[in-house]
Amino acid sequence: MDGPSGSGKSSVSRGAARALGLRYLDTGAMYRAMTWWMLQQGVDLADPAAVAARCGEPAIVSGTDPDGPAIHVDGVDVAGPIRESDVTGAVSAVAAVPEVRARLVALQREIIGAGDIVVEGRDIGSVVWPDAAVKIYLTASPEARARRRSAEVAGSTVEAQQEAMARRDTLDSTRKTDPLSMAAGAIELDTTALTLDEVIAEVLRLVKE
Ligand code: ADP
Ligand code: CDP
Repeated sequence: MDGPSGSGKSSVSRGAARALGLRYLDTGAMYRAMTWWMLQQGVDLADPAAVAARCGEPAIVSGTDPDGPAIHVDGVDVAGPIRESDVTGAVSAVAAVPEVRARLVALQREIIGAGDIVVEGRDIGSVVWPDAAVKIYLTASPEARARRRSAEVAGSTVEAQQEAMARRDTLDSTRKTDPLSMAAGAIELDTTALTLDEVIAEVLRLVKE
């Protein structure tokens, strides 16, 4: 399940995994965990060489339970801190560093290789697991995506969210390594005018097809 921020990847993937009795992996949480660790360490995130030099150090462990996805860095539960705005603002720069991607993609492939799973991210169908049985690319209008995100974040406006998302979309789709793009063989699903339950039902239909 790939797509931009706020298209519904996490909620739809978790709902589909629950309904199908599958595991679930949030690869964005892994990039966020790496970013959280870099910020803790005081690494200069504007310096890709500095990020590349340190990205092998943190032990990043992802759970795969759709009811309570866990993420730990060096044994610390970071599920809360990785959603803070400092991480959100910095994650696209860290995710653009090829050495970071190589390390996290290898970890993701290890988890996926262990058996049936719903995986969400930006490059799952194109790079991480091109042989996936079902590839879905979720989209929604920029306004809808910003509205959804601002409803989750206390005190944020739709306009501010839309601006922040547009910045991240540009960084994610223009980076040189594994940019956000629709994978070959993916089915595009526009969720703008659908409810969450309608999107999950459509995904389940596609899986059973
Ligand atoms: P992503 O993982 O792509 O960033 P999320 O799954 O986190 O997106 O969705 C962002 C927010 O939008 C969540 O609060 C979610 O419940 C809500 N949402 C997701 N899909 C829909 C939809 N089709 N209709 C309405 N709200 C949705
Ligand atoms: O919070 P949101 O749903 O918007 O994003 P996320 O899925 O948590 O991903 C955070 C960031 O990680 C993205 O903006 C990308 O920069 C990066 N990412 C990536 O490069 N590749 C992935 N497979 C997943 C996320």
